[in-house]
Amino acid sequence: MATLIAPSLLAANFANLQKDIEMINRSEADWFHLDIMDGVFVPNISFGFSVIDSIQSLCKKPMDAHLMIIHADNYIERFKNAGINRLTVHYEACTHLHRTIQQIQHEGMKAGVALNPHTPVFLLQDVIKELDTVLIMSVNPGFGGQTFIEQSCEKISELKELILKKQAPTLIEVDGGVNLETGAKLIAYGADVLVAGQFVFGSESPEETIYQLKHL
Ligand code: DX5
Ligand code: ZN
Repeated sequence: MATLIAPSLLAANFANLQKDIEMINRSEADWFHLDIMDGVFVPNISFGFSVIDSIQSLCKKPMDAHLMIIHADNYIERFKNAGINRLTVHYEACTHLHRTIQQIQHEGMKAGVALNPHTPVFLLQDVIKELDTVLIMSVNPGFGGQTFIEQSCEKISELKELILKKQAPTLIEVDGGVNLETGAKLIAYGADVLVAGQFVFGSESPEETIYQLKHL
């Protein structure tokens, strides 16, 4: 399977989101990656439902929301109604993770779990078969433009092994510090989906950059 590319809107121009969304629609990107931060789970606040509601009709590709929030359970239905197709919660922020995953899938969305850099892969062994996606954080969540943490590659190998062992249908998504160099390495280790923010939107031609990531 060709690697899927999910540009993160966090690095887009919020004064003209429509322009960047249309660029992603035209490009070879596969998903829109939406980073939702609450200022509690992570030391930053991004955007919420008013923005997602406004862009949902513009986004012509699946919307992949990465929740960096506590109390995610309270908002699952609202994310569904806002047009989100794939909903990822953080392992570290969910006490009853299995129930949360069930609720997301009950709403008809694909369910993902994100792991902070310090959270080991084996903690997912009892839920992996239920997961559509595992999101390996290759930076500490909260900000774009950070440096890739090399240890993430080893985690991908471990996750790949767990997925094969359990015969799980799970996609491996990686988020943080992705560029052509780290992207190529991540694909070699077994990543299925690459999220990229600063590398795409900070480049001269974001559409061309997406093409380059897609064809690594
Ligand atoms: C960080 C977010 C990322 C971020 C990635 O908390 O989850 O999705 O936008 O940004 P880059 O690609 O710039 O590291
Ligand atoms: Zn993200």
